[in-house]
Amino acid sequence: MLIQPAPHFEPPPAPSAAFRQLLAGVDGAVRGARHPQELLDGVTGSLREVILKRDLLTDAQKLPDPVRYRQHLLHVAEDGLYSIVSLVWLPTQETPVHDHLSWCVVGVHQGIERETSYRCVGGDCLTELGQGLNPAGTVVGLLPPADIHKVANGGEDLAISLHVYGADLSRCGSSILRKYPAN
Ligand SMILES: [Fe+2]
Repeated sequence: MLIQPAPHFEPPPAPSAAFRQLLAGVDGAVRGARHPQELLDGVTGSLREVILKRDLLTDAQKLPDPVRYRQHLLHVAEDGLYSIVSLVWLPTQETPVHDHLSWCVVGVHQGIERETSYRCVGGDCLTELGQGLNPAGTVVGLLPPADIHKVANGGEDLAISLHVYGADLSRCGSSILRKYPAN
């Protein structure tokens, strides 16, 4: 009689000390804030404390996709109040121009990201405000409606960023609210 081997379940690796520190900081900042800017400042400070720690992410959470930039869902608060993802970019990969479902805070963990910002003028939401290179260690917050942008790998090596969003990404899948057609 052929005996099937027992299925092998590999539990996900335990979060690193740096990631647990991030969770504690973000949770306190989100739940303790009295207004949106205070929330954004608190989450930004929490992410800034850990963004360059080498053990922040597991190897699996840093894997790219050869076709397009890749999102790894790392954590969703039990009540869905916020989510944390890593985004991984190979050289030349980029997002469409987009805005967001909620506030967000972005920190560059590795490599360089190039961010192009836009605003709406007379119904045209592709009026370019400027472009900048964000090296590893950069942490910035965005509050809608001032949040239209495009993000790309701005270097020649892998780029990885951590994003905290005020939404349940296990339900909505992505933080993108609208995509704007390219010029
Ligand atoms: Fe974005």
